[in-house]
Amino acid sequence: ETAVLERIEKKRQQAMEGGGQARIDAQHSKGKLTARERIALLLDEGSFREYDAFVEHQCVDFGMEQKKITGDGVVTGYGTINGRTVYVFSQDFTAFGGSLSKMHATKICKVMDKAMLVGAPLIGLNDSGGARIQEGVDSLAGYADIFQKNVLASGVIPQISMIMGPCAGGAVYSPALTDFTFMVRDTSYLFVTGPDVVKAVTNEAVTQEELGGAKTHTAKSGVAHHAFDNDIEALANLRKFVDFLPLSNREEVPQQYTADPMQDEALNTLVPIDSTKAYDMKEVVRRIVDDGNFFEIMPDYAKNIIIGFARMGGRTVSIIGNQPLVSSGVLDINASVKAARFVRFCDAFNIPLITLVDVPGFLPGTAQEHNGIIRHGAKLLYAYAEATVPKVTIITRKAYGGAYDVMSSKHLRGDVNYAWPSAEIAVMGAKGAVEIIFRQQENREQAEREYVRKFANPLPAAQRGFLDDVIVPSSTRSRIIEELQVLRNKRLTNPAKKHGNIPL
Ligand code: COA
Repeated sequence: ETAVLERIEKKRQQAMEGGGQARIDAQHSKGKLTARERIALLLDEGSFREYDAFVEHQCVDFGMEQKKITGDGVVTGYGTINGRTVYVFSQDFTAFGGSLSKMHATKICKVMDKAMLVGAPLIGLNDSGGARIQEGVDSLAGYADIFQKNVLASGVIPQISMIMGPCAGGAVYSPALTDFTFMVRDTSYLFVTGPDVVKAVTNEAVTQEELGGAKTHTAKSGVAHHAFDNDIEALANLRKFVDFLPLSNREEVPQQYTADPMQDEALNTLVPIDSTKAYDMKEVVRRIVDDGNFFEIMPDYAKNIIIGFARMGGRTVSIIGNQPLVSSGVLDINASVKAARFVRFCDAFNIPLITLVDVPGFLPGTAQEHNGIIRHGAKLLYAYAEATVPKVTIITRKAYGGAYDVMSSKHLRGDVNYAWPSAEIAVMGAKGAVEIIFRQQENREQAEREYVRKFANPLPAAQRGFLDDVIVPSSTRSRIIEELQVLRNKRLTNPAKKHGNIPL
Protein backbone atom coordinates (compact mmCIF):
# COMPACT_ATOMS: atom_id res chain seq x y z
CA GLU A 1 0.00 0.00 0.00
CA THR A 2 1.54 3.31 -1.06
CA ALA A 3 0.30 5.21 1.98
CA VAL A 4 2.41 2.99 4.28
CA LEU A 5 5.42 3.22 2.01
CA GLU A 6 5.09 7.00 2.00
CA ARG A 7 4.85 7.09 5.77
CA ILE A 8 7.93 4.89 6.11
CA GLU A 9 9.84 7.07 3.67
CA LYS A 10 8.77 10.22 5.48
CA LYS A 11 9.89 8.86 8.84
CA ARG A 12 13.19 7.77 7.35
CA GLN A 13 13.70 11.25 5.95
CA GLN A 14 12.89 12.76 9.36
CA ALA A 15 15.45 10.48 10.97
CA MET A 16 18.11 11.83 8.60
CA GLU A 17 17.28 15.39 9.65
CA GLY A 18 17.61 14.87 13.43
CA GLY A 19 16.55 18.02 15.28
CA GLY A 20 16.13 20.02 12.06
CA GLN A 21 18.19 22.42 9.97
CA ALA A 22 18.34 25.28 12.49
CA ARG A 23 19.86 23.03 15.15
CA ILE A 24 22.22 21.45 12.59
CA ASP A 25 23.41 24.95 11.71
CA ALA A 26 23.90 25.71 15.41
CA GLN A 27 25.96 22.51 15.75
CA HIS A 28 28.13 23.53 12.79
CA SER A 29 28.58 27.05 14.10
CA LYS A 30 30.16 25.56 17.25
CA GLY A 31 32.73 23.84 15.01
CA LYS A 32 31.07 20.46 15.53
CA LEU A 33 29.89 17.95 12.95
CA THR A 34 26.54 16.18 13.21
CA ALA A 35 26.15 12.61 14.42
CA ARG A 36 25.75 11.32 10.86
CA GLU A 37 28.61 13.36 9.42
CA ARG A 38 30.85 11.90 12.12
CA ILE A 39 29.86 8.33 11.31
CA ALA A 40 30.51 8.98 7.63
CA LEU A 41 34.06 10.14 8.43
CA LEU A 42 34.75 7.32 10.87
CA LEU A 43 33.66 4.38 8.74
CA ASP A 44 34.69 3.19 5.27
CA GLU A 45 32.60 4.91 2.63
CA GLY A 46 29.18 3.35 2.20
CA SER A 47 29.81 0.69 4.87
CA PHE A 48 27.43 1.99 7.54
CA ARG A 49 24.32 -0.11 8.23
CA GLU A 50 21.94 1.67 10.56
CA TYR A 51 19.61 0.03 13.07
CA ASP A 52 16.63 1.54 14.87
CA ALA A 53 16.36 4.71 12.79
CA PHE A 54 12.60 4.68 13.49
CA VAL A 55 12.82 4.50 17.25
CA GLU A 56 11.03 7.24 19.19
CA HIS A 57 10.77 7.91 22.91
CA GLN A 58 7.68 6.82 24.81
CA CYS A 59 7.55 9.61 27.37
CA VAL A 60 4.13 11.19 28.01
CA ASP A 61 5.10 13.70 30.73
CA PHE A 62 5.66 17.45 30.30
CA GLY A 63 3.97 17.42 26.89
CA MET A 64 6.66 15.14 25.47
CA GLU A 65 4.05 13.05 23.63
CA GLN A 66 3.80 16.04 21.24
CA LYS A 67 7.58 16.26 20.79
CA LYS A 68 9.13 13.28 19.06
CA ILE A 69 12.29 13.22 16.99
CA THR A 70 12.71 10.08 14.91
CA GLY A 71 15.82 8.21 16.05
CA ASP A 72 15.57 9.80 19.51
CA GLY A 73 18.95 11.49 19.64
CA VAL A 74 21.34 8.70 18.74
CA VAL A 75 22.40 7.02 15.49
CA THR A 76 23.44 3.37 15.89
CA GLY A 77 24.65 0.50 13.72
CA TYR A 78 27.81 -1.05 12.36
CA GLY A 79 30.25 -0.63 9.53
CA THR A 80 33.90 -1.16 8.71
CA ILE A 81 37.19 0.66 9.33
CA ASN A 82 39.70 -0.43 6.68
CA GLY A 83 37.54 -3.47 6.09
CA ARG A 84 37.22 -4.56 9.74
CA THR A 85 33.83 -4.55 11.49
CA VAL A 86 33.08 -2.11 14.30
CA TYR A 87 29.83 -1.21 16.05
CA VAL A 88 29.12 2.42 16.68
CA PHE A 89 26.71 4.78 18.36
CA SER A 90 26.80 8.49 17.68
CA GLN A 91 24.77 10.85 19.84
CA ASP A 92 22.88 13.58 18.03
CA PHE A 93 23.05 16.84 19.95
CA THR A 94 20.44 18.38 17.61
CA ALA A 95 17.77 16.01 18.98
CA PHE A 96 16.87 16.87 22.60
CA GLY A 97 20.51 17.87 23.14
CA GLY A 98 21.55 14.26 22.56
CA SER A 99 20.08 13.55 25.98
CA LEU A 100 19.62 9.95 27.01
CA SER A 101 16.08 8.61 27.20
CA LYS A 102 15.09 5.04 27.95
CA MET A 103 14.75 4.30 24.20
CA HIS A 104 18.01 6.09 23.37
CA ALA A 105 19.72 3.81 25.89
CA THR A 106 17.96 0.74 24.49
CA LYS A 107 19.39 1.54 21.06
CA ILE A 108 22.91 1.79 22.48
CA CYS A 109 22.46 -1.46 24.42
CA LYS A 110 21.41 -3.24 21.25
CA VAL A 111 24.66 -2.44 19.42
CA MET A 112 26.66 -3.29 22.54
CA ASP A 113 25.01 -6.72 22.63
CA LYS A 114 25.69 -7.27 18.93
CA ALA A 115 29.32 -6.22 19.27
CA MET A 116 29.74 -8.76 22.08
CA LEU A 117 28.00 -11.52 20.13
CA VAL A 118 30.13 -11.24 17.02
CA GLY A 119 33.32 -9.99 18.68
CA ALA A 120 33.86 -6.50 17.28
CA PRO A 121 34.93 -3.21 18.92
CA LEU A 122 32.36 -0.75 20.20
CA ILE A 123 32.92 2.91 19.45
CA GLY A 124 30.83 5.60 21.15
CA LEU A 125 30.78 9.14 19.78
CA ASN A 126 29.50 11.09 22.78
CA ASP A 127 27.74 14.44 22.48
CA SER A 128 24.95 14.69 25.03
CA GLY A 129 23.25 16.91 27.59
CA GLY A 130 23.01 13.90 29.92
CA ALA A 131 19.96 12.15 31.31
CA ARG A 132 16.70 13.16 29.52
CA ILE A 133 15.30 15.28 32.28
CA GLN A 134 11.65 14.71 31.33
CA GLU A 135 12.02 10.93 31.73
CA GLY A 136 13.32 10.92 35.28
CA VAL A 137 14.36 7.55 36.63
CA ASP A 138 13.76 5.85 33.27
CA SER A 139 16.80 7.61 31.86
CA LEU A 140 18.85 6.73 34.94
CA ALA A 141 17.88 3.11 34.37
CA GLY A 142 19.06 3.52 30.80
CA TYR A 143 22.50 4.64 31.96
CA ALA A 144 22.81 1.76 34.37
CA ASP A 145 21.92 -0.72 31.62
CA ILE A 146 24.80 0.70 29.58
CA PHE A 147 27.22 0.62 32.55
CA GLN A 148 26.41 -3.01 33.23
CA LYS A 149 27.09 -3.91 29.61
CA ASN A 150 30.32 -1.88 29.61
CA VAL A 151 31.53 -3.96 32.52
CA LEU A 152 30.55 -7.30 30.98
CA ALA A 153 32.18 -6.29 27.69
CA SER A 154 35.41 -5.20 29.42
CA GLY A 155 38.21 -7.52 28.31
CA VAL A 156 35.99 -9.13 25.65
CA ILE A 157 35.83 -6.41 22.99
CA PRO A 158 37.76 -3.13 22.83
CA GLN A 159 35.52 -0.23 23.89
CA ILE A 160 36.43 3.28 22.82
CA SER A 161 34.76 6.58 23.76
CA MET A 162 35.26 9.73 21.72
CA ILE A 163 33.94 12.75 23.59
CA MET A 164 32.80 15.32 21.02
CA GLY A 165 30.59 17.62 23.09
CA PRO A 166 29.23 17.78 26.61
CA CYS A 167 29.35 14.69 28.79
CA ALA A 168 28.22 15.39 32.34
CA GLY A 169 26.73 13.76 35.39
CA GLY A 170 26.03 10.04 35.20
CA ALA A 171 26.98 10.13 31.52
CA VAL A 172 30.69 10.27 32.36
CA TYR A 173 30.75 6.80 33.82
CA SER A 174 30.24 4.94 30.59
CA PRO A 175 33.36 6.49 29.00
CA ALA A 176 35.20 5.91 32.28
CA LEU A 177 34.42 2.20 32.08
CA THR A 178 35.60 1.89 28.47
CA ASP A 179 39.20 1.12 27.56
CA PHE A 180 40.08 4.42 25.93
CA THR A 181 38.58 7.91 26.22
CA PHE A 182 39.54 10.49 23.62
CA MET A 183 38.44 14.13 23.50
CA VAL A 184 38.16 16.98 21.01
CA ARG A 185 39.87 20.19 22.11
CA ASP A 186 37.68 23.22 22.92
CA THR A 187 34.36 21.51 22.08
CA SER A 188 34.22 18.65 24.55
CA TYR A 189 34.17 18.40 28.30
CA LEU A 190 33.60 15.79 30.96
CA PHE A 191 32.59 16.41 34.57
CA VAL A 192 30.50 14.87 37.30
CA THR A 193 28.96 18.26 38.12
CA GLY A 194 29.21 21.44 36.08
CA PRO A 195 30.67 24.85 37.09
CA ASP A 196 27.34 26.09 38.55
CA VAL A 197 27.04 23.20 40.98
CA VAL A 198 30.73 23.48 41.87
CA LYS A 199 30.21 27.15 42.69
CA ALA A 200 27.15 26.41 44.83
CA VAL A 201 28.75 23.57 46.79
CA THR A 202 32.40 24.57 47.17
CA ASN A 203 32.29 28.27 46.24
CA GLU A 204 35.02 27.69 43.65
CA ALA A 205 34.74 29.68 40.42
CA VAL A 206 35.88 27.58 37.50
CA THR A 207 35.21 27.52 33.75
CA GLN A 208 33.92 24.45 31.90
CA GLU A 209 37.24 24.19 30.12
CA GLU A 210 39.29 24.33 33.33
CA LEU A 211 36.99 21.93 35.13
CA GLY A 212 36.70 19.25 32.48
CA GLY A 213 38.18 20.27 29.12
CA ALA A 214 40.61 18.22 27.06
CA LYS A 215 43.70 19.82 28.59
CA THR A 216 42.54 19.10 32.13
CA HIS A 217 41.77 15.47 31.44
CA THR A 218 44.79 14.63 29.28
CA ALA A 219 47.39 16.41 31.44
CA LYS A 220 46.01 16.58 34.99
CA SER A 221 43.35 14.05 35.84
CA GLY A 222 44.38 11.25 33.50
CA VAL A 223 40.70 10.65 32.67
CA ALA A 224 41.28 11.00 28.91
CA HIS A 225 43.93 9.23 26.88
CA HIS A 226 44.32 11.63 23.98
CA ALA A 227 42.92 14.89 22.59
CA PHE A 228 42.58 16.07 19.01
CA ASP A 229 42.12 19.52 17.49
CA ASN A 230 38.75 19.04 15.79
CA ASP A 231 36.19 16.42 14.78
CA ILE A 232 37.88 15.59 11.47
CA GLU A 233 41.32 15.05 13.00
CA ALA A 234 39.79 13.09 15.86
CA LEU A 235 37.95 10.66 13.61
CA ALA A 236 40.91 10.20 11.25
CA ASN A 237 43.07 9.30 14.25
CA LEU A 238 40.42 6.99 15.62
CA ARG A 239 40.58 5.04 12.35
CA LYS A 240 44.36 4.71 12.70
CA PHE A 241 43.98 3.68 16.32
CA VAL A 242 41.45 0.92 15.60
CA ASP A 243 43.86 -0.53 13.02
CA PHE A 244 46.16 -1.54 15.89
CA LEU A 245 43.54 -3.43 17.88
CA PRO A 246 42.34 -7.00 17.64
CA LEU A 247 38.57 -7.15 17.11
CA SER A 248 38.05 -9.10 20.33
CA ASN A 249 39.83 -11.20 22.94
CA ARG A 250 39.22 -14.23 20.72
CA GLU A 251 41.33 -12.82 17.91
CA GLU A 252 45.01 -12.38 17.28
CA VAL A 253 46.46 -8.94 16.64
CA PRO A 254 46.07 -7.61 13.08
CA GLN A 255 48.97 -7.64 10.64
CA GLN A 256 50.24 -5.07 8.13
CA TYR A 257 53.02 -5.23 5.59
CA THR A 258 56.35 -3.53 6.36
CA ALA A 259 59.69 -3.28 4.57
CA ASP A 260 61.46 -1.44 7.40
CA PRO A 261 65.10 -2.61 7.74
CA MET A 262 66.05 -4.74 10.74
CA GLN A 263 69.29 -3.04 11.90
CA ASP A 264 69.68 0.50 13.19
CA GLU A 265 73.26 1.57 13.84
CA ALA A 266 72.26 4.84 15.53
CA LEU A 267 71.03 2.83 18.53
CA ASN A 268 74.64 1.93 19.39
CA THR A 269 75.44 5.50 20.38
CA LEU A 270 72.05 6.64 21.63
CA VAL A 271 72.64 6.10 25.35
CA PRO A 272 75.12 8.74 26.64
CA ILE A 273 78.30 7.35 28.22
CA ASP A 274 77.75 9.60 31.25
CA SER A 275 74.95 7.77 33.04
CA THR A 276 73.59 10.98 34.58
CA LYS A 277 72.81 12.40 31.11
CA ALA A 278 69.32 12.00 29.68
CA TYR A 279 68.23 10.77 26.27
CA ASP A 280 64.84 10.37 24.60
CA MET A 281 63.34 6.89 24.96
CA LYS A 282 60.85 7.80 22.22
CA GLU A 283 63.84 7.90 19.87
CA VAL A 284 64.58 4.28 20.83
CA VAL A 285 60.92 3.40 20.23
CA ARG A 286 60.83 5.01 16.79
CA ARG A 287 64.00 3.18 15.78
CA ILE A 288 62.87 -0.30 16.80
CA VAL A 289 59.22 -0.33 15.68
CA ASP A 290 57.97 -0.70 12.10
CA ASP A 291 58.41 2.48 10.06
CA GLY A 292 58.79 4.65 13.17
CA ASN A 293 55.02 4.45 13.58
CA PHE A 294 54.13 4.83 17.26
CA PHE A 295 50.61 5.66 18.48
CA GLU A 296 51.28 7.09 21.89
CA ILE A 297 48.60 6.90 24.58
CA MET A 298 48.39 9.59 27.28
CA PRO A 299 51.30 11.59 25.82
CA ASP A 300 50.67 14.54 28.17
CA TYR A 301 50.17 12.65 31.43
CA ALA A 302 52.93 11.17 33.63
CA LYS A 303 55.48 11.76 30.89
CA ASN A 304 58.10 9.86 32.90
CA ILE A 305 56.60 6.71 31.39
CA ILE A 306 55.73 6.18 27.71
CA ILE A 307 52.95 3.85 26.61
CA GLY A 308 51.40 3.17 23.22
CA PHE A 309 50.89 0.88 20.27
CA ALA A 310 53.21 0.09 17.39
CA ARG A 311 53.91 -2.81 15.05
CA MET A 312 56.94 -5.06 14.91
CA GLY A 313 57.35 -7.41 11.97
CA GLY A 314 53.92 -6.17 10.89
CA ARG A 315 52.02 -7.25 14.00
CA THR A 316 50.71 -5.02 16.79
CA VAL A 317 52.77 -4.73 19.96
CA SER A 318 52.51 -2.49 22.99
CA ILE A 319 55.39 -0.34 24.16
CA ILE A 320 55.96 0.54 27.80
CA GLY A 321 59.12 2.56 28.37
CA ASN A 322 60.62 4.66 31.14
CA GLN A 323 61.45 8.14 29.83
CA PRO A 324 64.85 9.37 31.09
CA LEU A 325 64.05 12.85 29.72
CA VAL A 326 61.38 13.40 32.38
CA SER A 327 62.39 13.10 36.07
CA SER A 328 65.03 10.54 35.02
CA GLY A 329 62.22 8.10 34.17
CA VAL A 330 61.36 7.57 37.83
CA LEU A 331 58.24 5.57 38.71
CA ASP A 332 55.68 7.59 40.64
CA ILE A 333 51.98 7.13 41.40
CA ASN A 334 50.69 8.52 38.11
CA ALA A 335 53.20 6.64 35.96
CA SER A 336 52.42 3.35 37.74
CA VAL A 337 48.68 3.70 37.30
CA LYS A 338 49.02 4.86 33.69
CA ALA A 339 51.15 1.89 32.70
CA ALA A 340 49.25 -0.66 34.81
CA ARG A 341 45.93 -0.09 33.10
CA PHE A 342 47.61 -0.25 29.71
CA VAL A 343 49.39 -3.52 30.51
CA ARG A 344 46.07 -5.04 31.57
CA PHE A 345 44.36 -3.93 28.36
CA CYS A 346 47.12 -5.51 26.28
CA ASP A 347 47.08 -8.71 28.30
CA ALA A 348 43.30 -9.00 27.86
CA PHE A 349 43.61 -8.55 24.08
CA ASN A 350 46.62 -10.73 23.23
CA ILE A 351 48.94 -7.81 22.52
CA PRO A 352 52.60 -8.58 23.38
CA LEU A 353 54.32 -6.32 25.91
CA ILE A 354 57.60 -4.74 24.87
CA THR A 355 59.16 -3.05 27.90
CA LEU A 356 62.08 -0.63 27.61
CA VAL A 357 63.74 -0.11 30.98
CA ASP A 358 65.75 2.83 32.23
CA VAL A 359 64.45 3.44 35.72
CA PRO A 360 66.25 4.89 38.76
CA GLY A 361 63.59 3.52 41.14
CA PHE A 362 60.37 4.70 42.76
CA LEU A 363 60.05 8.40 43.57
CA PRO A 364 60.86 9.16 47.23
CA GLY A 365 59.01 11.72 49.37
CA THR A 366 56.06 12.35 51.64
CA ALA A 367 53.79 13.43 48.77
CA GLN A 368 54.22 10.04 47.15
CA GLU A 369 54.12 7.96 50.33
CA HIS A 370 51.10 9.75 51.78
CA ASN A 371 49.18 9.42 48.54
CA GLY A 372 49.84 5.71 48.42
CA ILE A 373 52.77 4.97 46.11
CA ILE A 374 52.90 1.53 47.75
CA ARG A 375 49.33 0.74 46.75
CA HIS A 376 49.60 2.36 43.32
CA GLY A 377 53.05 1.03 42.47
CA ALA A 378 51.69 -2.41 43.32
CA LYS A 379 49.20 -2.04 40.46
CA LEU A 380 51.95 -2.07 37.89
CA LEU A 381 53.67 -4.96 39.63
CA TYR A 382 50.40 -6.88 39.72
CA ALA A 383 49.61 -6.13 36.08
CA TYR A 384 52.98 -7.39 34.83
CA ALA A 385 52.97 -10.43 37.10
CA GLU A 386 49.46 -11.41 36.02
CA ALA A 387 50.07 -10.93 32.28
CA THR A 388 50.34 -14.09 30.18
CA VAL A 389 50.94 -12.49 26.77
CA PRO A 390 54.47 -12.56 25.30
CA LYS A 391 56.71 -10.30 27.39
CA VAL A 392 59.97 -8.97 25.96
CA THR A 393 62.13 -6.65 28.06
CA ILE A 394 65.13 -4.55 27.05
CA ILE A 395 67.15 -2.83 29.77
CA THR A 396 68.85 0.09 28.08
CA ARG A 397 70.48 1.56 31.17
CA LYS A 398 69.36 1.78 34.80
CA ALA A 399 67.25 -0.88 36.43
CA TYR A 400 67.40 -0.10 40.13
CA GLY A 401 65.69 -1.50 43.16
CA GLY A 402 62.09 -2.64 43.29
CA ALA A 403 61.52 -0.86 39.99
CA TYR A 404 63.86 -3.41 38.34
CA ASP A 405 61.58 -6.19 39.55
CA VAL A 406 58.42 -4.38 38.48
CA MET A 407 59.45 -3.51 34.93
CA SER A 408 58.71 -6.93 33.39
CA SER A 409 61.72 -8.62 34.94
CA LYS A 410 62.59 -12.29 34.42
CA HIS A 411 61.20 -12.91 37.90
CA LEU A 412 57.70 -11.83 36.78
CA ARG A 413 57.66 -14.41 34.00
CA GLY A 414 59.40 -12.20 31.45
CA ASP A 415 59.82 -14.42 28.39
CA VAL A 416 62.90 -12.72 27.02
CA ASN A 417 65.00 -10.26 28.97
CA TYR A 418 67.83 -8.54 27.16
CA ALA A 419 70.19 -5.79 28.23
CA TRP A 420 72.30 -3.39 26.27
CA PRO A 421 75.96 -3.21 27.37
CA SER A 422 75.15 0.14 29.04
CA ALA A 423 72.80 -1.57 31.54
CA GLU A 424 73.27 -1.10 35.29
CA ILE A 425 71.23 -3.44 37.47
CA ALA A 426 71.50 -2.99 41.23
CA VAL A 427 69.62 -2.22 44.40
CA MET A 428 70.46 1.47 44.03
CA GLY A 429 72.91 3.88 42.43
CA ALA A 430 76.54 3.94 43.58
CA LYS A 431 76.37 7.17 45.62
CA GLY A 432 73.39 6.11 47.73
CA ALA A 433 74.71 2.60 48.18
CA VAL A 434 78.14 3.70 49.40
CA GLU A 435 76.51 6.15 51.85
CA ILE A 436 74.80 3.21 53.49
CA ILE A 437 77.17 0.25 53.36
CA PHE A 438 80.47 2.16 53.71
CA ARG A 439 79.22 4.80 56.16
CA GLN A 440 82.27 4.33 58.42
CA GLN A 441 84.86 4.11 55.67
CA GLU A 442 87.37 6.93 55.07
CA ASN A 443 87.99 6.43 51.39
CA ARG A 444 84.45 6.62 50.04
CA GLU A 445 85.63 7.34 46.51
CA GLN A 446 87.43 4.09 46.25
CA ALA A 447 84.39 2.26 47.59
CA GLU A 448 82.23 3.97 45.02
CA ARG A 449 84.56 2.97 42.19
CA GLU A 450 84.49 -0.59 43.46
CA TYR A 451 80.66 -0.57 43.55
CA VAL A 452 80.45 0.85 40.03
CA ARG A 453 82.91 -1.74 38.70
CA LYS A 454 80.89 -4.56 40.27
CA PHE A 455 77.32 -3.43 39.64
CA ALA A 456 77.17 -0.73 36.96
CA ASN A 457 77.06 -3.32 34.18
CA PRO A 458 74.79 -6.16 33.03
CA LEU A 459 77.12 -9.02 34.00
CA PRO A 460 75.90 -9.92 37.51
CA ALA A 461 72.33 -10.30 36.20
CA ALA A 462 73.48 -12.18 33.09
CA GLN A 463 75.62 -14.55 35.19
CA ARG A 464 72.52 -15.51 37.15
CA GLY A 465 70.34 -16.02 34.08
CA PHE A 466 68.16 -13.06 34.96
CA LEU A 467 69.09 -11.70 31.55
CA ASP A 468 68.96 -14.05 28.58
CA ASP A 469 71.64 -12.14 26.70
CA VAL A 470 73.47 -8.85 26.40
CA ILE A 471 72.81 -7.59 22.88
CA VAL A 472 74.25 -5.01 20.53
CA PRO A 473 71.72 -2.15 20.54
CA SER A 474 71.59 -1.96 16.73
CA SER A 475 70.24 -5.53 16.65
CA THR A 476 67.36 -4.81 19.07
CA ARG A 477 64.66 -4.64 16.42
CA SER A 478 65.59 -7.90 14.74
CA ARG A 479 66.06 -9.73 18.06
CA ILE A 480 62.61 -8.66 19.31
CA ILE A 481 60.89 -9.59 16.04
CA GLU A 482 62.54 -13.04 16.07
CA GLU A 483 61.40 -13.62 19.64
CA LEU A 484 57.85 -12.49 18.95
CA GLN A 485 57.67 -14.93 16.07
CA VAL A 486 58.62 -17.81 18.40
CA LEU A 487 56.37 -16.53 21.18
CA ARG A 488 53.29 -16.60 18.97
CA ASN A 489 52.94 -20.19 20.17
CA LYS A 490 53.21 -19.23 23.83
CA ARG A 491 50.43 -20.75 25.95
CA LEU A 492 50.26 -19.79 29.60
CA THR A 493 47.27 -19.63 31.92
CA ASN A 494 46.92 -18.41 35.48
CA PRO A 495 45.32 -20.51 38.24
CA ALA A 496 41.52 -20.79 37.97
CA LYS A 497 39.77 -18.15 40.09
CA LYS A 498 36.74 -15.91 39.98
CA HIS A 499 39.03 -12.91 39.62
CA GLY A 500 42.13 -11.59 41.32
CA ASN A 501 42.15 -8.65 43.71
CA ILE A 502 44.39 -6.03 42.12
CA PRO A 503 45.24 -3.30 44.69
CA LEU A 504 42.91 -0.47 43.59
N1 COA B 1 17.29 16.59 28.92
C1 COA B 1 16.40 17.03 28.00
N2 COA B 1 16.70 17.97 27.11
C2 COA B 1 17.94 18.50 27.12
C3 COA B 1 18.91 18.09 28.05
C4 COA B 1 18.54 17.09 28.98
N3 COA B 1 19.41 16.64 29.87
N4 COA B 1 20.04 18.77 27.84
C5 COA B 1 19.80 19.58 26.80
N5 COA B 1 18.52 19.43 26.37
C6 COA B 1 17.87 20.12 25.26
C7 COA B 1 17.59 21.57 25.58
O1 COA B 1 16.34 21.68 26.19
C8 COA B 1 17.62 22.18 24.19
O2 COA B 1 16.39 21.88 23.56
P1 COA B 1 15.82 22.81 22.39
O3 COA B 1 16.76 22.71 21.24
O4 COA B 1 14.49 22.21 22.07
O5 COA B 1 15.74 24.19 22.97
C9 COA B 1 18.66 21.38 23.46
O6 COA B 1 18.78 20.15 24.17
C10 COA B 1 20.02 22.05 23.43
O7 COA B 1 20.37 22.44 24.75
P2 COA B 1 20.94 23.89 25.10
O8 COA B 1 20.90 24.04 26.56
O9 COA B 1 20.23 24.90 24.27
O10 COA B 1 22.43 23.73 24.55
P3 COA B 1 23.74 24.42 25.09
O11 COA B 1 24.81 24.06 24.14
O12 COA B 1 23.49 25.85 25.39
O13 COA B 1 24.04 23.70 26.51
C11 COA B 1 24.30 21.83 28.04
C12 COA B 1 24.33 22.33 26.60
C13 COA B 1 24.54 20.34 28.03
C14 COA B 1 25.38 22.51 28.87
C15 COA B 1 22.94 22.18 28.67
O14 COA B 1 21.92 21.73 27.79
C16 COA B 1 22.70 21.52 30.00
O15 COA B 1 23.19 21.98 31.02
N6 COA B 1 21.93 20.41 30.03
C17 COA B 1 21.62 19.67 31.23
C18 COA B 1 22.83 18.92 31.70
C19 COA B 1 22.52 18.08 32.92
O16 COA B 1 22.65 18.51 34.04
N7 COA B 1 22.09 16.85 32.64
C20 COA B 1 21.79 15.91 33.62
C21 COA B 1 23.08 15.19 33.99
S1 COA B 1 22.85 13.46 34.34
